[in-house]
Amino acid sequence: MKVQDQDFGMTRDSVPIQLFVLSNEKGMTAKVTNWGAILVSLEVPDKDGVSSDIILGYDKLDGYIDDKSYQGSTIGRYANRIGKAKFTLDDLEYTLAANNGENHLHGGITGFNKVVWQAEKIEAPDNAGVKFFYLSRDGEEGYPGNLKVEVTYTLNNENELKISYTAQTDKATHVNLTHHSYFNLAGAGTGNILDHQLTILADKITAVDKDLTPTGEFKDVANTPWDFTRPMAAGARITDVEGGYDHNYVLRNSGGALALAVGVYDPKSGRVMQLSTTEPGMQFYSGNFLDGSITGKNGKIYHKHFALCLEPQHFPDTPNEPGFPSTVLKPGETYKQVSVYKFLQGE
Ligand code: GLA
Repeated sequence: MKVQDQDFGMTRDSVPIQLFVLSNEKGMTAKVTNWGAILVSLEVPDKDGVSSDIILGYDKLDGYIDDKSYQGSTIGRYANRIGKAKFTLDDLEYTLAANNGENHLHGGITGFNKVVWQAEKIEAPDNAGVKFFYLSRDGEEGYPGNLKVEVTYTLNNENELKISYTAQTDKATHVNLTHHSYFNLAGAGTGNILDHQLTILADKITAVDKDLTPTGEFKDVANTPWDFTRPMAAGARITDVEGGYDHNYVLRNSGGALALAVGVYDPKSGRVMQLSTTEPGMQFYSGNFLDGSITGKNGKIYHKHFALCLEPQHFPDTPNEPGFPSTVLKPGETYKQVSVYKFLQGE
């Protein structure tokens, strides 16, 4: 399958940026850029076979350069929060960039979503893709170790968009990468996602404090508004969740093998998305901070709950929580993650 590449403009310091177009035979097209290894658009057929772009974002590179909401982004070196922007590893204390009050969020001030990646096209018989490379230097945003990161997007004819990650370091560090697309299965900018039917295969969330940093405890979802173990409209109980959903689910199938984690169905378009991942956690964020201040693709304004993010990851603040599955990466080891977003045409 072929990959087309196009000019996507220039960074503020005049580095030319590309847009790669991956298309399959089933009406799906994914566009990715080497600015931030970002997914720029994702066209998916609805129940009648009509394709629309189902992720929020911008028409032009400038939108992504100025963006503060992590649209379509690859997030790293550490997705989600690290409390007080500090951790101790091998008896050394590291201070990270604090960019969310006193905490560190989504890799810091210049995360992996705000850097230029190297890119290599993948044209295989059964998939089309792009492999992105980035070297995160020792000390970047406060993290130890030179970290070599690869992120590969591939699209196949089974309507699967697969995102695979690897990373290697030369000093012990923490790594937790994720993908931060804002999905609206009815089409980007068409309305809110409160009627999307959501199933999350998780019986617990990680309990959080007022800054959304984990306390180290786990909370059962049974009989709470966080319970999506059976299909439920995203908005059915959202008013009972202060601020809206922005919580890490402890996935049932978290043995490290690729396993189904989330299902989403939009009754209007009939589109179905299934997310499978190798990760133990998944942040469900209901677009609470979208407030009408972003003008996105085709001039559409993005209001509160106009999209949802499903971010496969290790648990937030693991560097400070010894009871959570470890995110330490040591020299000689390889960090690996695979997440697959598969699309089906429902009723
Ligand atoms: C994640 C976080 C949220 C918010 C969004 C982006 O989902 O958990 O609190 O930062 O990203 O705005």
